[in-house]
Amino acid sequence: MIRSNCVETFEQWRTEARRLIAMKARPSDVHWQTDPDQLSLFEEGTSGSDSRQVSDRKTNEQSVPANRTFTVPQDFLKLAENVACHRESGRWALLYRTLWRIVNEQRELLKITTDDDVYQLTQMQKAVTRDVHKMKAFVRFRKVADDPETFVAWHRPDHRIMRLAAPFFARRFKGMRWSIFTPDESACWDQTSLQYGRGVSASEVDSDDSLEELWKTYYASIFNPARVKVAMMKREMPVRHWATLPEAGLIPKLLEQAPARVEKMIETHEGFGQTAMHFMPSEMDLSSLAEAVRQCSACDLCQDATQAVFGEGNPSAQVVLIGEQPGDQEDVQGKPFVGPAGQLLNECLSQAGIDRKDVYVTNTVKHFKFIQRGKRRLHQKPNSREIYACRPWLEAELSVLLPKVIVCLGATPSQALLGRDFRITRSRGKLLQTEWCERTLATWHPAAVLRMPDESRRSQMQEQLIGDLQLAVSES
Ligand code: URA
Repeated sequence: MIRSNCVETFEQWRTEARRLIAMKARPSDVHWQTDPDQLSLFEEGTSGSDSRQVSDRKTNEQSVPANRTFTVPQDFLKLAENVACHRESGRWALLYRTLWRIVNEQRELLKITTDDDVYQLTQMQKAVTRDVHKMKAFVRFRKVADDPETFVAWHRPDHRIMRLAAPFFARRFKGMRWSIFTPDESACWDQTSLQYGRGVSASEVDSDDSLEELWKTYYASIFNPARVKVAMMKREMPVRHWATLPEAGLIPKLLEQAPARVEKMIETHEGFGQTAMHFMPSEMDLSSLAEAVRQCSACDLCQDATQAVFGEGNPSAQVVLIGEQPGDQEDVQGKPFVGPAGQLLNECLSQAGIDRKDVYVTNTVKHFKFIQRGKRRLHQKPNSREIYACRPWLEAELSVLLPKVIVCLGATPSQALLGRDFRITRSRGKLLQTEWCERTLATWHPAAVLRMPDESRRSQMQEQLIGDLQLAVSES
């Protein structure tokens, strides 16, 4: 039996796995050690005299040069990084067995979704991704300091996901200072960098005051006011303009206004209160989400629309199609893409050899936005506030489905997932990586095809849409 060094993180597992592959250690011969106490017991010499025993990193590195180079598919690394956060104690062994099989037996192993190891890893990955989403939805901050304004939260995730989730909070609340405590680990954002610290148990946070005390004890000191002001200034005004400012009066004023601006941001756009996060169900599955979306009033569109229209399709779909928002008929029937654009989409799917029942179809915004003109309801493009407020529903769908390929139909979903500068005319049909999927591509919205007055251009766009759908399926 070969004992691994003590492994607690993905990086440690990766180093260890590389070394074990290099020494041709068969998975069934490796005992993965995760408990540092066990390791020290073992180091005291209680575990026999196997010459291949691995009890000390230095000795191992000297005795087994890791000179066997190998590469693995990117998908595996991503999967392993997620699975590493799962609490299941057998995860390191399962990951190593899969790695061994990819390197020595079947490079395309991950494509065999019925394989027991691949299936188990995928289920674990889904559990971790859902847990990350739950953390995004349920973390509630409270203010613990005014100058500079600082927020803290405590959360108990099912898995060890702090490092997977923290970058999301840093992006979303980048202009604020916050700490999130979990029993495994805590994360702290000072407007410029993330720092990780020790975990905090539930018993340590039995009241709101204890959260504040904890923060003061461990984290207050890392906020450097000098750096905060520079960060604030950069937010307020690009650095290149500083020199031309009538600086004496303006800079202090801007700094003075900054806390109020943060407050406003919280209440309005980037805030904790004004998005669909507040309507998330505690169970993260498609039917609970579809039920919960009916109560959503995160933006004003719910007031005039008949109902929220949630996504629909195969819950195991490898390909997810995302439109803009329900149209008139979708609003009445409560189903996505059932009107004229939906009919064209169906036609394109079938020409691409795809059964609509095999994919999942949804929208960026779940309520119909329109203006009434006599008896007609004319479609209106959702604005960025509405898209932002609705985004948690789409993110929840994607984190449950974990599609292999996402197809964005038109500008609204494309810009929501690929950034505001994204242009279909420039980058249609390109496979791009997003936070949600390794392969995300954008193509024409069927309604844009229908609206195109020039007939030859229209049929060209339709051909391109069909081609892009075929590409999506071939990549899934
Ligand atoms: N257009 C969309 O973007 N989505 C629909 O569901 C219908 C039309």
